[in-house]
Amino acid sequence: MVRERVGREGNLGRAVEFGCGTGFYTEVLARKANTLLATDISSGMLELAKRQVNAPNVTFQAVDCQRTTLQDEGFDTAFISLLIHFTVPGQTVAEMYRILRPRGTLIIANLDPQLLHGLDRIRSLIRIAYQGIAGYRLKPPKGFGRNVMSEKQLRELLGRSGFRVESAETIRDPSRSSNIPVEYIRAVKV
Ligand SMILES: C[S@@+](CC[C@H](N)C(=O)[O-])C[C@H]1O[C@@H](n2cnc3c(N)ncnc32)[C@H](O)[C@@H]1O
Repeated sequence: MVRERVGREGNLGRAVEFGCGTGFYTEVLARKANTLLATDISSGMLELAKRQVNAPNVTFQAVDCQRTTLQDEGFDTAFISLLIHFTVPGQTVAEMYRILRPRGTLIIANLDPQLLHGLDRIRSLIRIAYQGIAGYRLKPPKGFGRNVMSEKQLRELLGRSGFRVESAETIRDPSRSSNIPVEYIRAVKV
């Protein structure tokens, strides 16, 4: 559903994607962009993405979105999905501000578990814990989830960091009420 939403974007110009993972969004973004730099901190993820993505205007680079070596004001659009909670959010948003041109657009897809209540919230927490332990055989690292932000917190952070939020949409998967909704936020560098 989020990918469909990305597919309805207008021209993204010179775009950069942070935390591209397996490249789930990369081809859709590439179709909308003149050029796309797809980045991830993990070289393993980048290898997977390179195998999945077939688009002539994409280049790949290993980048930590919190402290990149990308040039100042070099991009029209930055896209970041399901990543900000793994970082120090203030640092990441400040870096987005630095690399975007004035009036450039930051698009964030952000998990917002605070939109779940009661049993749905409990079910989602159990599922995350179960999948982490059974699926990945991992205990969540210390501090995991500490930097998850609600829409309100993210809006405040964007405002403090020099962005104006243009739109925020909540994307919910109706097939299961305990799936965590995703906020799709478009913000402009002012
Ligand atoms: C949950 S996945 C999201 C992947 C993709 N954006 C999506 O929505 O399908 C998070 C990705 O962020 C990457 N990542 C984690 N910390 C990062 C950082 N500091 N800078 C850049 N990428 C990071 C991980 O390697 C992983 O590929």
